[in-house]
Amino acid sequence: MTAQSRCGAVLGAVLSVAALCPTSAIRAAAPAAPSPASAPPSAPAGVTNVQLAWQNWALNCQGCHRLDGTGSDATAPSLAGTVAKFLWVPGGREYLIRVPGVATSPLSDADLAEVMNWMLWRYDREHLPSNFRPFTAAEMGPLRSRPLRLEAAGMRRDLLTKAEASGPP
Ligand code: HEC
Repeated sequence: MTAQSRCGAVLGAVLSVAALCPTSAIRAAAPAAPSPASAPPSAPAGVTNVQLAWQNWALNCQGCHRLDGTGSDATAPSLAGTVAKFLWVPGGREYLIRVPGVATSPLSDADLAEVMNWMLWRYDREHLPSNFRPFTAAEMGPLRSRPLRLEAAGMRRDLLTKAEASGPP
């Protein structure tokens, strides 16, 4: 088979799959296209500039946590569908800011607070407790000055176990 005919065969296969699939199925498979009916609010609480928060995340956090927040065994645990559960239990709010990736980030307190609020909304808004108060810049400094080290992993496990046991407040 020549390169050209191989290409034609592949293209034909793609076209016939596309013809078999209703557009709605293709749209459902594309994660970046929410339907208007389920579109989330455009600005999460505590975020004045969504675009900036997203950029700051992309530049400072995404390398370990990945675009979809799922992380990897080699870099970071998954935030997707989990991260807001820390807010269900005492100590969880502080933990989220004291993890090394957050506490030692080069971002300013104001930018970091916005990234945190954006991140909670982007990756786990369904678990945000109803009494959630958005993070503020003023809250960052005292917590960032006490970054967790080796104890982070154990603390993470304990908090999540407690959260799963207690459920949302
Ligand atoms: C060098 C890799 C790395 C970078 C960069 C990084 N993180 Fe993390 N992050 C981790 C790891 C690993 C953990 C798990 C806790 C631990 O052991 O430090 C974590 C935990 C967290 C947690 C706690 C949730 C949980 O499931 O434990 C939050 C929130 C978080 N990161 C947000 C961020 C944000 C926001 C940024 C950017 C400002 C960032 N991280 C940058 C690796 C990273």
